[in-house]
Order: sequence, then C-alpha cells, then structure tokens
Amino acid sequence: MQNQHTAVLGMQWGDEGKGKIVDHLAHDHQVIVRYQGGTNAGHTVVVGKKKFPLHLIPSGILYPEKTCVIGDGVVVNPLVLAEELEALDKRVGKRATLLIGSKAQLIMPWHIVRDGITGKKIGTTGRGIGPTYTDATARVGIRVMDLASKLRFSTMVAQYAVYNRELIEGLLRYYQIKPTAAEKTKIEQALTVDDIVRKYTDAWEKLKAFGIAAVDTSQTLDEADRAGKRILYEGAQATLLDITHGDYPFVTSSHPTVGGLFIGSGFRPRELTVIGVLKAYATRVGEGPFPTELTNRTGEILRERGHEYGTTTGRPRRCGWLDLVVGEYAVRINGVDGIAMTKLDILSGMKKLQLALAYRKGKVVMTRYPADQAVLEKVESQYVNMNGWRDDMTNKARAFSDLPKAAQKYVELVEEYLTVPVKYIGVGPGREELVRR
Ligand code: IMP
Repeated sequence: MQNQHTAVLGMQWGDEGKGKIVDHLAHDHQVIVRYQGGTNAGHTVVVGKKKFPLHLIPSGILYPEKTCVIGDGVVVNPLVLAEELEALDKRVGKRATLLIGSKAQLIMPWHIVRDGITGKKIGTTGRGIGPTYTDATARVGIRVMDLASKLRFSTMVAQYAVYNRELIEGLLRYYQIKPTAAEKTKIEQALTVDDIVRKYTDAWEKLKAFGIAAVDTSQTLDEADRAGKRILYEGAQATLLDITHGDYPFVTSSHPTVGGLFIGSGFRPRELTVIGVLKAYATRVGEGPFPTELTNRTGEILRERGHEYGTTTGRPRRCGWLDLVVGEYAVRINGVDGIAMTKLDILSGMKKLQLALAYRKGKVVMTRYPADQAVLEKVESQYVNMNGWRDDMTNKARAFSDLPKAAQKYVELVEEYLTVPVKYIGVGPGREELVRR
C-alpha cells in the first residue's frame, strides 16, 4: 500500500492561484514536485507582508524541512534558477532542499530568440519554452546532465549553435522580419559559444554551491514513497493550455493535465488525490478563445480587484465569468477529486454574477467543451444569473457557514454542476485566508 499523494493543477487557463493551495497542502506533504513547464509559470506565495513571486522553483520552497524537486519534464534555465534562488536566499533564512531531474531539458539562449519570432501569434511568455520542448522532441536538446562535463557541454553548445543559426535565419526569412541593429546583436549573443558555456557553467557551479543537485527524480520519489513520505505534485499553467487537450494552437508546449505528472516526474503514484484549482471567475493571458470574456467595465473591475496582471510578463489578463463548461472538461480530463475555489473574495460587492453552464451556436446548445477552435470562436455562453453579496469575507470567513449566504449558493451551484466537492475556498491572498471543508 502506497502513501496518499496529491496533485494540484489548474482547471482553467492558468493563474488560478495554485501557489497558495500548494503552499497550504505542503504542510502535510514532505516532497513537492514540479513536473512540467518552466520559467513561463508564476506562482506568488504571500507570507505575512512578504510576497514571493516564483517562476521555476516549486512553491514548497519556503518550508525548510521539505524537499522540492524540479522534475525531468520541466524545462530549466539555470541562469534564471540561480537568480531566483539567490534572491530568495537573501530574503528567507532557511529553505527547502532543492533537487533537479538530470533528464530535464535546458532552455538555451537561442530558444528565447526563436520564441520571440514564433511565439508572437500565440502570445507566449517569450521565455523559450516552446522551442525547448520542440528541440527535446526533435532530439537536438541539451539536458541538465550534460552540464556535468564542461567538455561535453561545450561540444554540444558548439554543435547546436550552428544548427540554431540556420534555423533563426530561416525563421526570420519565413516571417519576413528584418531585425534592428540591437536585435542583431542579441541574436549574435545568443549564438556565441564561449559566452554561453561560461554563463551556463558558472550558473551551474553557483547552483551546486547553493546545495542543488542533479538527481534521478524517479528514484528520489520512489525512495521518498518507500520511506512513508507524501508527495505533492505542483502543476504549472493549466488544463486549457495543455499541448494536446488545450485550445490548440493557443497552448503551452507541455502537459499541465494529470497525465503530465507521470512523465514529468518518472513516478506513478498509485494513491493520488487530484485537487483542481478553479478561480471564482476566469482569466486568460495571451491569445485564444475565451467564451465568457468580459470586454466591458465588469471585466476591468475584475482585473483591478483581482490584480490580474501576469506574474511573469506583467501583461493585463483578459477577465470573464466563471465557465462551468470549461470546469466539466477539466474535471473529466484530470479526474478531479476535489476543487479549490480561489479568489472568491474578489467577487464581493458585485450586485449580479453570471455563470456559464452551456454554449450556443445557432440552434445547437453544447454542454461539453468543443475541441474545434472554429466552433469555439463562434459560440455564445448561456448563463445562469446569481445574486452577489456585499459583506467582507477576507477578514471574517474561516468556515463555510461564515460566508455570505449568496456566496455559499455560488459555491454550491459549482459543486452540484460539476458533482465534485469544493474542499477549499480562497477568501484573500494571505496564507490564513482560506476556508476548508
Ligand atoms: P508559453 O508557455 O510561454 O509558450 O506560452 C503559451 C501560452 O500559455 C500563452 O498564451 C501564455 O500566455 C500562456 N501561459 C504560459 N504560462 C502561463 C502561466 O503561468 N499562466 C497563464 N498563462 C500562461
């Protein structure tokens, strides 16, 4: 019999507030694992008055007695990781042990250049995520383990710099882009072998000095499980951004859905509880369909109140009503066992609320999320209207019965529609501002 492990993953388009839920659940888990994505993620953990924006490091890092693992399915930029860790170490005394999967792919400078060219149409975060996964699949990637030998690493960098020069020149021609002098200099820098080797090996040495080690994550997790430890899997991005199950092509290049967890960690947890994080309203950054988007004043109110600006890029997020067609899809794809509804407090003070229960295209009503972008672009959301509430919940509500009656109804409707219990409700940004059921 294995231990009970937990996965926390996003049910919408990211930015659901997963960091807060992971931070809470980390209390009774000993190992926290990220299994996909890279520096495109942005988790903000708030402790007291301090805010910790994290991009690559798992949210459990603030617990000194825990082990955090960056799994093999994550794409790693050692320069960013070293910076992030340095900044964190300056602000917190002790932190968790951090391990990295030796099979994880490295984000190289040329990936960032290529993302700048090919990612525009999708509105990517520009961190080189897509091109790094592309090269992994094309078997021309460099992995964390390759940093162990300077000779091996520099040989690979030299070889792939030539390959990437050809690619970048081809892409610029294809997209009819004429780089400015400053852009040309950046491209040259991203292909300069000596410079890259020096920066990456320096960053790796720095990381080792911080106590970071490259490991076989499969073995680490298996041993943790055998030792009776509980593993918490931290998803980045979300279901609708999954490369296979999301709104292709407006997606990220990894698998934020539950399946990604097995590949990205190399360990199959037999006893797994899946917590789906669902923000009380919806947001999306970048391009792509968004049937409940509000382009009016209500959308602006949600953006301002919810501080809906990207943690990674600072871009304003598109905002809209909660969409339970999306919710049903995420429950199904991930086998969600329990929901964490976040940011319910942001809706306080709104007179009327709406929840989408179906879409309509002409005479056809759909209650299942359609995969075809051509259909999604044309659907109209079918809403149920609900009364809002005025009372403050951030300072007052710690139990479900403390919530205003209308807020309780809102949560109950979600539960009934999705037939999944809402186990956690976020009522404010702080660690304690959480209702458990
Ligand atoms: P990429 O992951 O940078 O390739 O971007 C692909 C798409 O995923 C874009 O629409 C991004 O805005 C979106 N995306 C990537 N990471 C996040 C995230 O952490 N939160 C929300 N959206 C994200």
